[in-house]
Order: sequence, then C-alpha cells, then structure tokens
Amino acid sequence: MTSVELRQKYLSFFQSRGHKIIPSASLIPSEEVELAGTERVLFTTAGMHPLIPYLMGKNHPEGKRLVNIQKCLRTDDIDEVGDSVHNTFFEMLGNWSLGDYWKKEAISWSYEFLINELKLDAKRIYASVFAGDSDAPFDDESFNVWKKLGVPESHIFKYGKSDNWWPTGGEKPGPQGPDTEMFYDMDPKSKSPIDPSQNSQRFVEIWNDVFMQYECQKDGSYKPLKQKNVDTGMGLERILTVLQNAPSIYETDVFLPLMKKIEDLSAYFNESSARIVADHIRAAVFLTSDGVTPSNVERGYILRRLIRRTIRHSSLLKINQEFLPELSRIVIKTYDSTYPDLAEHQALIIQELQKEEQKFKKALEVGIKHFEKISGNISGQNAFDLYQNFGFPIELTEELAREKGKKVDISSFEKLLKSHQQLSKSASQKTQGGLAVQSKIAARYHTATHLLHQALRDVLGSHVHQTGSHITNERLRFDFAHHEKLTDQQIKSVESKVNQKIQQNIPVHKKSLPKAAADEIGAIGLFREKYGDLVNIYYIGQSEDPRLAYSKEFCGGPHAKSTGEIGKVKITKEESAGSGTRRIYATIIR
Ligand code: ALA
Repeated sequence: MTSVELRQKYLSFFQSRGHKIIPSASLIPSEEVELAGTERVLFTTAGMHPLIPYLMGKNHPEGKRLVNIQKCLRTDDIDEVGDSVHNTFFEMLGNWSLGDYWKKEAISWSYEFLINELKLDAKRIYASVFAGDSDAPFDDESFNVWKKLGVPESHIFKYGKSDNWWPTGGEKPGPQGPDTEMFYDMDPKSKSPIDPSQNSQRFVEIWNDVFMQYECQKDGSYKPLKQKNVDTGMGLERILTVLQNAPSIYETDVFLPLMKKIEDLSAYFNESSARIVADHIRAAVFLTSDGVTPSNVERGYILRRLIRRTIRHSSLLKINQEFLPELSRIVIKTYDSTYPDLAEHQALIIQELQKEEQKFKKALEVGIKHFEKISGNISGQNAFDLYQNFGFPIELTEELAREKGKKVDISSFEKLLKSHQQLSKSASQKTQGGLAVQSKIAARYHTATHLLHQALRDVLGSHVHQTGSHITNERLRFDFAHHEKLTDQQIKSVESKVNQKIQQNIPVHKKSLPKAAADEIGAIGLFREKYGDLVNIYYIGQSEDPRLAYSKEFCGGPHAKSTGEIGKVKITKEESAGSGTRRIYATIIR
C-alpha cells in the first residue's frame, strides 16, 4: 500500500464513522494555541497540538468527531536520526473525539482499521495500557476492551506514566491522560524478549490512543478536564514500514526517490549520513514552505541547524556539487498531491535553501580545517569562534567533537554567546532609538506638508493639487499643479497661514472609511488608490467631524498628534518643476 493510499484509506474509514476531515495545520503553532495555557513549543509536535483549545472545551466548527493527517516536527530525537525509525519531520494520522465517543469505540476502531483495512496479522498485535499510580488508577476499561476484541492477555502489557501517558511522563501543563499503545511484532519467530516497550528492534510502535480526562495545571496538580476527549496518533512513516515490509522508514515510498538520488550523488556512501540528509532536507522543505527562514533565533535557528547539518553530512558523503535545490524538488514532487502548497512555494523554498547552501559551504570547509587544528578539548572560546566566524551551530561543533572523542565547554560557550548577544542587542536598541527620533521628525514634516497643501489652495485656488512630495530629516519638498511662479507676497501668505495653524495647535485625527465616504467629505490627496477599499484619511481640525476639518487628505501617515508639535515652518525656495508644476522647499526651524 502506498502512502497516498494509506492517507486516503484512513480518512475515509473515520469519515464513514462520523468524523469530519480537517486539513493539516501549519508547522508553526497558531497564536491561539500558544495562548491556550499549555507549554510553549516552537513547532506543531503532534496532531492534537493545533486542537488544544478544542480539547479544553471550545466548540469546534466541524463538530465533535475529527480526523486528519498532521505535519509534525520534533527535534528532541534529532541525534537519533540516522537509525531506522527516527525522524524530525513526520506525518501523524489522527482521529479525535471532543467529548463524544470514549475508550470502547476508539480502541475498537483502531483495531478494526489495523486488521480489516490494513490487513495486519491479529496474532502479531500487542497492546499496552496504563498500570495506575497515585494520580490515576489502572486503566482496566481499556484492558477489558482489548480482551473483548480477542487480544490475549499475554499480548497486553501494563506500563507506568513514562510509557502509557500522554504527554509522556505527564508533568506538562495542559490536557492529558492515560493511553493505550499498539505494537506490531516484526519478527514473530524471534526468541528475543517479548516486551514491546523494551524491544524496539522487534516491536514497532504503531498507534497511540490517548484518553484525555485530566488537565495538569501549572503547579503540577491534576484536575478533571471539562470534557473527556480521545486523541489518537499513528506515525505515518512507521506504519508504512510495516505495510511496505521495509527494513527502515527510509525504504518506504515517502523516502525512496530521495534516498536513491542521494546515493547517486554520493561519491562515498554511508547510510547514516544519507538518512540524515534525507530527513533534514524534507524537514527544511516543509518548514520553509510554512514560512520559516534560516536565522540565529528560535524557529529560524532550528531550520538553519537542519540545513547546515545536511551540508556537513553531504560533505561526508562527498557530494561535490550544489545539491539542496535538486533534492528539494524531489521532496516537493513526492508530496505534491498531498500538500499542494509545497509546489506553490517551490521557487521560494529553493531560493532560501540554495542561499543557505551557498553561504555555508565555503565556511564549513575552512571551519573544519580550523576545528582540526584545535588540540585537546574544545574551549568555549574555540566553539564561539567557530560559531562567530564560520557559522557553526554549537550542535555541529558538538557533533564534530563527539566523533573525535573530544569535549566541548558548553557553559563557557553559552556565557560568551550571551554577552555577545547583549552587545548586539544594545547596539540594535541604539539604532532603533535613532530611527524613532528620525521618524518623529518625519512625522512633523509630514503634517507640515498637509498644512502647506491646504494653505496653497487657500491662497492660490482649489486647482492646486499635489503632484509629488519628498521628505528628509532636514526639509520637505512639495510639488503641485499651478501654472505660474508664486509672488513673494503669495509665498509669505502661504507661510504665515501654515504657521498660524501650527500656533493653534490643532489635533490631527485618523480615520479609515470607504472610498466613497472619503470623497464625499472632500478628502484630497495623491494616493487615493493605494489603500484598497477602505481608505485612511488624516484630518486636521478642532472637531472630531472630518467634514469640519481644515485639511483632510488620503494618507498612510505617520503624523504628529497635533500641529503644535511641528514647530515653525519656513519656505526656503520656490521654483518650476516642469510645465504646469511648481516646487516648494520648506524647513522646520524649531
Ligand atoms: N498525541 C498522541 C501522540 O502524539 C496521540 O502520541
């Protein structure tokens, strides 16, 4: 069965049991999920994650039974990637009951799907249930459902919170509860111990049904959840290894084309590096598609680490050409029928990854030479130099050190990094402060321009309208339609009109309204097409009513809060700016 068929089968199975199919959420948790009172995580780590608000009682617009296939990313096991079962990015097949069905239905449907739809051998299915502790009792209900389904007691194991509780161990705040896990015996003839949680070589963990009935509070205590939910999760790559009888996840159809290409490009193949490259590129493609770009903080840093680690392992494989764009295209092709946005974002994904590849490849080569010259263990300063001068994520330095049996002084590295970050933070605060001062001046000039525009109309007539404007921190320049040179008298009148309005310290208001309404008020200005259906107008008037205002213009701002902030304006020059157009320069003199 292919991955595409599996996804389809799963969704239809639960759809025909009253579940609504919901799309995969982004790998970047939404603000609502971040605010739901649970632990903050950088990425969507499980199918239930985007549903947290609904698991805590909010009504889901699609109802109480949901099913989907969710993109997930977990970096806790990143060092295990390279073996046969671990991934960073993966897909999770999940079905949920939000205060609807409970253990009997959930377990029976899981079993039915495995046996009737996926045609797994019932004799090779094992299950585990929560053994009970001081927080919650033994889950005899699940135990009995398994027995009723015909699973022999010898195949049902009882484990504690570290195995049969979600989230694992249970201490994290948020919705949680006991779970029951399903395992498949990949080697029934083996004489190795029959204990699924201890023997991952032989038993593949395929599915987890969580019975969420508690909320763990921030202080670690438990209270019953408002509604009892079922949250299930089946790792797509793992079940595919079973269905495709593959020795590892990298030999299933979601990885085969990518692995084949990596092998072709490698002059010196080693399995673990090839798997790391495959896993990390796939994760990087999905992350970039969801809007993450490489950087030195948070999500961007994880992405950068994944890409840079890929590049380092590509050099171990002796891939001597640019490879990220080509491999990214293969990932996109593998997934394009399931995640069409990958193809939509293809140009951007490739551009970002290519940029990072070009940037890091040269630095890596020189940096590794530098690393090799270090004698003995790696000091904090050594690690910091590698980070600062060659862009080595600390995890890369650690990995290199591990391979050579060296230690890295992480705590002094972190101290150096922190003081460096503080230095650059205060430098950037200085720049931002500078920009803030500058933008205040610009706002004053901006408001002065509006006053000038209206004053010109007052003095010269309403044929005057703006044809251009340019502001610096030293002066304003204003172009307008008018057919003759201004007399000295006219210039004086305009200037004194502007300064009179400044002296009156008139408030500046902002309003968004439909274009037609703004036209009716008599708003003027160049850029009326710029703001879509709703337009912003700035108006200068004592009253809140824009119709009574002295000046009203279409404008995006920013502006002074009132005209008194401007200071005194002096017109410094008046000249022609082409036929039928005049230009005025003015300065704020205090
Ligand atoms: N949330 C559960 C898990 O990820 C289903 O295992």
